Amino acid sequence: MKARLFAANWKMHQAPADAAAFLRTFLDQYTRQQDRRVLFFPPAVSLHVVVDATRERSDIGAGIQNLHWEDKGAFTGETSAALARGAGARYALVGHSERRQLFGETDAQTGLKMAAAVRAGLTPVLCVGETLSEREAGETLGVVARQLRAGLAGLEPSAVASAIVAYEPVWAIGTGRTATPADAAEVHQAIAAVIRALIGERGGAVPILYGGSVNRSNVEALLATDGVDGVLVGGASLDAEQWLAIVRAG
Ligand code: 13P
Repeated sequence: MKARLFAANWKMHQAPADAAAFLRTFLDQYTRQQDRRVLFFPPAVSLHVVVDATRERSDIGAGIQNLHWEDKGAFTGETSAALARGAGARYALVGHSERRQLFGETDAQTGLKMAAAVRAGLTPVLCVGETLSEREAGETLGVVARQLRAGLAGLEPSAVASAIVAYEPVWAIGTGRTATPADAAEVHQAIAAVIRALIGERGGAVPILYGGSVNRSNVEALLATDGVDGVLVGGASLDAEQWLAIVRAG
């Protein structure tokens, strides 16, 4: 059985002092569980706090929320996967819908970022998901398949096999609306089928997370859903007590 993954995307929250206070509370109360791993995606300026506080915890990892696809160079304001790896990151979110929608990230750029993450030794978490209008137009599975293929296009099969995918319907992010377990099951199955079509049966090992308004009340039902291997959580991951309840679920 795959280990369950509980990933916290702190977005543009938690300065270093806030991250340190959160982790003191969290690490005091959360002991290692064999069947699960916890990932934190703090803002880049707080990455070192998470890396330092969790150094002794092989069940907890840290990652960056975004990266540039070049390894280094004159790209003022950007962070490369190699720089993040040097700062202790092990994971990277790629293609989050906020990057796609608010910063114009394209499918092609997402593919370049996935390849850059793998080159630097980071495990990428490829985020895919449809907008409300795409869902209403019946385009959900087509959009998700397109985003997946573009994101994974530059990766060797072995790198695809060790990547992580997160399904985050855009209409469920920060809105309080979650996909029903049936909605999530349908899309997670479709994602698994695309990955298997790309790399064969070993694609079955790729964890597929659900994200979008996950909280302590709905996490159990989502984790009980066929094909959901974990969750990627924004708002509800900012409060240590709520996050503790979430990582203990399932
Ligand atoms: P919320 O949990 O705040 O809806 O955010 C989800 C998300 O975007 C995680 O990456």
